[in-house]
Amino acid sequence: MERRKFVKMGAVIGAAAAMPRFSFAQVKGSDKVKIGLIGCGGRGTGALINMLDGDQNVKVVAFADLFEDKLQPSINRVKQHLDKNYPGRSNEILDPATVKKFSGWDCVDALLREDVDAVIEATPPVFRTPHYAKIVAAGKHAFLEKPACIDITQAREMLELAKQAKEKGLTVICGTQRRYHDGYKEMIKRVQDGALGEILSTQAYWNSSGYVGHYQHDAMEKSGVLKGLEFDSIEYQVRNWFSFIWTSGDHIVEQHVHNLDVIMWALGDNHFPVELRGFGGRSTDLPVPMYGDRFSHFAIDFDMGNGLRLASYCQQDPKAADEVGERIVGTKGIMYSNLYGNISITDLKGNPVWKFDNKKASECMVNEHKVFLQSVRNGGRMNMIEPLVNSTLLAIAGRLSAYSGKKFKYDWMLSRSAENLVPEKMAWGVKVPLKPVPVPGKYELVLKA
Ligand SMILES: NC(=O)c1ccc[n+]([C@@H]2O[C@H](COP(=O)([O-])OP(=O)(O)OC[C@H]3O[C@@H](n4cnc5c(N)ncnc54)[C@H](O)[C@@H]3O)[C@@H](O)[C@H]2O)c1
Repeated sequence: MERRKFVKMGAVIGAAAAMPRFSFAQVKGSDKVKIGLIGCGGRGTGALINMLDGDQNVKVVAFADLFEDKLQPSINRVKQHLDKNYPGRSNEILDPATVKKFSGWDCVDALLREDVDAVIEATPPVFRTPHYAKIVAAGKHAFLEKPACIDITQAREMLELAKQAKEKGLTVICGTQRRYHDGYKEMIKRVQDGALGEILSTQAYWNSSGYVGHYQHDAMEKSGVLKGLEFDSIEYQVRNWFSFIWTSGDHIVEQHVHNLDVIMWALGDNHFPVELRGFGGRSTDLPVPMYGDRFSHFAIDFDMGNGLRLASYCQQDPKAADEVGERIVGTKGIMYSNLYGNISITDLKGNPVWKFDNKKASECMVNEHKVFLQSVRNGGRMNMIEPLVNSTLLAIAGRLSAYSGKKFKYDWMLSRSAENLVPEKMAWGVKVPLKPVPVPGKYELVLKA
């Protein structure tokens, strides 16, 4: 197999152990870990609950969200969970009377000035990089949701930040939860130990029957939160972040990154495409710009070198058939995985060779936080940014090829792309010009001079 590297992966976890052991956020084994939540929506609140289910020796110090109306519902949800599941310790873990709440464009700065050891960052993808820059500067450990970034400019910055985090001895774990799932871990080990023979082809799928931005928008419209907002206002676009390219990276980056990450992991986290060609489009049933400017479906053919291909499909079209998973075919067998379903290896005729009993799939969402807090406590200093950046970059490359209709070398994109989707100014009242849905053949790639 040809091995091409955007970054040298090395032993991501092992290398961190060799780093100097200092951090501004020093936590010892038995200490309470002081936590701040950045991004108090569905996943941020869920991630905090997952963390508290994994480890109750935690004090939740502060909540931060751009929108003030997101803070109290998030606090209430976490508190209800604690009251129900850990009644004797609920107030010790989260005291609604004293917990700090920050909103507005400087909410992250305000949270980071508090006495927190570690943060959960679960805002829309476009904010991950600027927020992580602040988190590293403040010397805090971080659990970062996926994806790592939305364009190559941010990807380059995230890799710099990963280096700085290592130098400061900071742990950073990312929300690609399949990597903390016992079934996935065993399956990938088997694949890497040769259970499939030589790998011939790989496939990744996130095909689903609903356009996520559609539901998100309609629920907010019903609640009145979008009332009076123009489509080109920054508030409309950030609230509808699933639907816009600059906020989400499009669903190939935002969601399908999970499946691409599994394939990258199975191939050793150091095997990159040689060339790619993507297709995609937007369902005409999804009005623009109300439901943003992004595509509703992609299909990408990644040439991984030496005859190996990665076929990547993702779709969010209303009423389309569902399939989410990963598949790898080798000379001896076939691997198939779906987070909440079948995780197995068969021979080439479909006869079972190994199958994981996947009754407790959602435990991986707790496991990732156990790993995070263990690393914070024992000085392991895990740093999982590079694999996430690499998987995110695969999705970004696929998106660029599908938007433009161009076939290109992966290394060419890494060295020449200068895409920067982030608006220059982020503040209330800013207008973010509406863009048409990309048209293959017309969409211009932004290149370095
Ligand atoms: N690992 C997983 O399985 C998984 C599942 C769902 C979502 N996610 C990821 O989690 C992230 C959040 O997704 P979600 O479903 O919770 O979305 P959400 O819209 O429910 O929550 C996002 C929150 O971030 C807040 N926010 C927006 N801009 C902000 C800013 N600049 N500063 C502070 N707060 C800001 C929003 O107001 C909102 O409360 C996304 O990156 C998504 O891809 C991961």
